[in-house]
Amino acid sequence: MTVLWNPARGALDTYGMALGDDVTVVAHGAAVPREISANGHHLVVIGPEVPAESAYELAEQLRVESPGAGVLMLRHRLEVAVLAQALRSGVRDVVQADDQGALVEAVRRSESLSAQLGTAPGEQGTAGHVVTVFSAKGGVGKTTIAVNTAAYLATSGAKTLLIDLDLMFGDVGICLQLPPTTSIMDLVAMTGHLDSQGLASVVAKHAATGVDVLVAPHDPADADRVPADLVSEVIRLARTQYDYVILDMPPSMPEHVLGAFDLSDLLVLVSTLDIPAVKNLRLAINTLDTLGAPQQNRLLVLNRADLKVGLTAKDVETALHYPISLGLPNALSVPAAANRGVVLAVDEVKDPFAVALREFVDHKVRPHFGEEPTRAGGRRIQRLRRSK
Ligand SMILES: Nc1ncnc2c1ncn2[C@@H]1O[C@H](COP(=O)(O)OP(=O)(O)OP(=O)(O)O)[C@@H](O)[C@H]1O
Ligand SMILES: [Mg+2]
Repeated sequence: MTVLWNPARGALDTYGMALGDDVTVVAHGAAVPREISANGHHLVVIGPEVPAESAYELAEQLRVESPGAGVLMLRHRLEVAVLAQALRSGVRDVVQADDQGALVEAVRRSESLSAQLGTAPGEQGTAGHVVTVFSAKGGVGKTTIAVNTAAYLATSGAKTLLIDLDLMFGDVGICLQLPPTTSIMDLVAMTGHLDSQGLASVVAKHAATGVDVLVAPHDPADADRVPADLVSEVIRLARTQYDYVILDMPPSMPEHVLGAFDLSDLLVLVSTLDIPAVKNLRLAINTLDTLGAPQQNRLLVLNRADLKVGLTAKDVETALHYPISLGLPNALSVPAAANRGVVLAVDEVKDPFAVALREFVDHKVRPHFGEEPTRAGGRRIQRLRRSK
């Protein structure tokens, strides 16, 4: 099973013979890791039109995330400098693009090595699902949805990490009443060589639900000191350590957010029934389309969907060209729970917001990754209630 990254059309006609039957062609590099984790490809072939720097970057990423996958680079001309850098980045072979025989031979060598390693990609380290909660307008409920989703997944038995990527004004730590000790700032010094121990040393455990949390810097002035590369590195590593990585976002698209979009397996886009929220989300969706983020990996959530404010759910669907996957009710219990530092979705069995949120996780989020809805979460919630 091969994934061929080639921005130019007609790649399959040119290389299909050498690569065999089972080839998926993608136009953007960001689609390659997603393809690997979704379909378990053993071989990645990078076409000659892809800039060499982008190819090295992907190879380095896959070396960590999917070490069982072989990466081959096709180039119009073989140059020693490219070959050396490619091998340093983890590329298994660089092949002249018009040499079909050499390509067949390189594919055979790579597959034999993958077989010896005994690792189908996706089985080693890439199993975690990255779910990003985003809206382009502030105050629409991103943090509320991210916190409740992460906590509910954790109580349902999934090893879950919630990362606050609202680096300036992140309030996940406050919402969960976590002690202000460590934060993502503590990882800055580890940029480029972060490992699982480093990550584990800065996550905080939310005792009541078992969700792990990586909070935003405590001082907004520190937000600029967190490099976008570090954020991507954290997400890549986190997905190898957790079943679910939930990202809470700021209402804007700085570089670290764009990097996180690239690594996301599912985008939960949040709107409310007001025109600025819908308009800004429309613009954000246009940007996502331009970036090549797959449309099928997006779910639209309408928060406070029952407010009678002259705009309807249908209007939102029409404006955004998306079906609404979840309508969450407006409920005083939401801010009340946040003020008490409890998570509604796991603390209140019958609250309408909590019920709707759990349904969403069980019937939209989990099935997106081919998982069965679980009843375990419900049982755990009952236990939590009884033990209070
Ligand atoms: N369905 C709801 N019913 C009532 N209140 C809600 C609901 N959803 C969110 N809220 C409240 O609205 C406020 C904003 O929610 P939240 O912080 O989750 O939004 P946000 O999109 O993360 O905001 P920001 O962009 O500032 O990070 C909070 O006080 C929250 O308790
Ligand atoms: Mg927020």
